[in-house]
Amino acid sequence: MQAPPTLLYFDDEQGAALGLAQAAGLVPAPVQRHRFPDGEIRLRLPDALPERVVLLRTLDHPNEKLVDLLLAARTARLLGARHLTLVAPYLAYMRQDIAFVPGEAISQRIVGRFLAELFDAVVTVDPHLHRVATLQEAVPVGQAVVLSGAPLLADLIAQRRPGALLVGPDSESAQWVSQAAARHGFDHAVCTKQRQGDHAVEIELPALPVAGRAVVLMDDVASTGHTVAQAARRLRAAGAVSVDVAVTHALLSDDAFGQLRAAGVDAFWSTDCVAHSSNVVKMAVPLAQALATLLPSGTVKA
Ligand code: R5P
Repeated sequence: MQAPPTLLYFDDEQGAALGLAQAAGLVPAPVQRHRFPDGEIRLRLPDALPERVVLLRTLDHPNEKLVDLLLAARTARLLGARHLTLVAPYLAYMRQDIAFVPGEAISQRIVGRFLAELFDAVVTVDPHLHRVATLQEAVPVGQAVVLSGAPLLADLIAQRRPGALLVGPDSESAQWVSQAAARHGFDHAVCTKQRQGDHAVEIELPALPVAGRAVVLMDDVASTGHTVAQAARRLRAAGAVSVDVAVTHALLSDDAFGQLRAAGVDAFWSTDCVAHSSNVVKMAVPLAQALATLLPSGTVKA
């Protein structure tokens, strides 16, 4: 009989890992990680691995974590893994998908190929794919599964703000807003956004009247928080009675909350794709369902 698949995880993701292991029937195993004073890292994996191994590493603060992936994936192969799946609930470096000025690195393509060389399959949630249609174009891996946080965020919004008006801060957010709206029949619309720099965005509200409405802003990512903060300011000025925010990936530092409050944001909700004090939606069950579709069946590397 085949040994059950192992879920490798790092101790900073233990909570999410144990939830995923339980939901997916995987055997959790921590990767021991030592960081030397000069910044180098040393990893230690269990000394024997089954054929099928899943590695959980969400890729906020990605620069060091990409080295974790390189060392862990190569070592897992040496220790017996023949089919290796990366579960990266947040997939970094997906936004830079073209060279906006000559000479710029197209990070999406470079990081995508790096991951595809290490893993047989990748599972992620709401990757920021703008000018490419599928995850496999960005990460040319054998099996690529994209989930969305929008359905579970929509369920939360339906409980906490029934009858809310869902608003996306820019045209790209239409996909999440319309998905959530279809699930619970919310009114919905998207704003127009112009980004002038990391900390400067301009937002124009949609034509739909917002006065007297409870509004929930939905987006894939809040990073500096300026996008949702600026949208909240505009919505408040236009008479919204409340403005809450629901995002899949809360990359925000906790001190960003002060800025969001000052902009008129009430509640801020996120999925646990990136660990943050605002996490209210757990993605373990949808991630486990995705893993169940990835049985290697003939794709195992020789
Ligand atoms: C970009 O199009 C994304 O969907 C988000 O709107 C953006 O990344 C949010 O960034 P920030 O919080 O820094 O404004």
